[in-house]
Amino acid sequence: MTRDLFADATQGSPLREDLCPGAVVLRGFALAKETHLLASINEITAAAMFRHMLTPGGFRMSVAMTNCGGYGWVTDGKGYRYATTDPLSDQPWPAMPDVLLQLASAAAKDAGFADFTPDACLVNRYEAGARMSLHQDRNERDFTQPIVSVSLGLPAIFIFGGMRRNDKPVRVPLLHGDVVVWGGPARLRYHGVLALKPGRHALAGECRINLTFRRAG
Ligand code: SIN
Ligand code: FE2
Repeated sequence: MTRDLFADATQGSPLREDLCPGAVVLRGFALAKETHLLASINEITAAAMFRHMLTPGGFRMSVAMTNCGGYGWVTDGKGYRYATTDPLSDQPWPAMPDVLLQLASAAAKDAGFADFTPDACLVNRYEAGARMSLHQDRNERDFTQPIVSVSLGLPAIFIFGGMRRNDKPVRVPLLHGDVVVWGGPARLRYHGVLALKPGRHALAGECRINLTFRRAG
């Protein structure tokens, strides 16, 4: 899938695609920082390694995860929550690098959410076959703050649904550098990612990396 092919399939500006009130895809928004972002992710994962967490029901998640920032999203037999330390090391999560913070704030601003200062960044690594089933992001305190989601590496199909689990989702192909922002009336929309197709990305290798920024605390 190439960017040109996708641009032909969108209406209006190929760089900005409204999904619904409060939700927008900013095509290629992170591209200018791709090298810096991937280097920062390598530093984060050297300090807090990717791991497959367990759902509260005991299932191993197919997506490998870690975090940076003051709060990190974790799941285990005790449930979903934010933690200020990495349960593998009992150390604080790595600090959120400025390049990540600034990208997330700028994307939120572009999408109409001024003054977004995330304190949590979940780093998701999808390898071939990894997927994320439909869910809401609802472990944060303040739902007036949006979610900013950055895609790097292999392409994936993001599914974006409604406020109820059974609302039929739309399929949104996300490419390296694309950023999705959802907030306001869209903040609690169900969303997920279909199983990743195998492939190799020139910079990221055989995976997709997703950065999901939140205001958690
Ligand atoms: C998430 O909902 O945490 C991840 C979304 C994505 O990988 O695009
Ligand atoms: Fe999510």
